[in-house]
Amino acid sequence: MSKLYFNWSEMKNAPTPGEKVCDLSSLSEGQIKEIVFGNNKDAFKIIVFLKEGVVHGYVNKCPHHWLTLQRRSDSTFMMWSEIEVMCGHHSSVFDLTNSGRCTDGVAQEPIYQMFHYS
Ligand code: FES
Repeated sequence: MSKLYFNWSEMKNAPTPGEKVCDLSSLSEGQIKEIVFGNNKDAFKIIVFLKEGVVHGYVNKCPHHWLTLQRRSDSTFMMWSEIEVMCGHHSSVFDLTNSGRCTDGVAQEPIYQMFHYS
């Protein structure tokens, strides 16, 4: 799926733009929190990351093969650095504080940013 034509808000079970997705108090500095809307194969998954007072939200899909960023065998996220997450499938790395920019690996495109605010 090309980012050029991707609109996350049109996906099944996606929250409405501007909808509250979690309480700020449920986030921990430097930790990724996954939030799931819907069930089973139609679930829409996002990740939220709090860093230095800024909350970053992304669609939990790697642009390489459109898989969730976690490995299939567990639900943990692999942090590459304090601000970068590594895809558990083919090891592309994304900067969660810089619009999801791909900093290493085969993905070449950023993960899909939904919001960020401070
Ligand atoms: S699915 Fe993420 S790098 Fe391939």
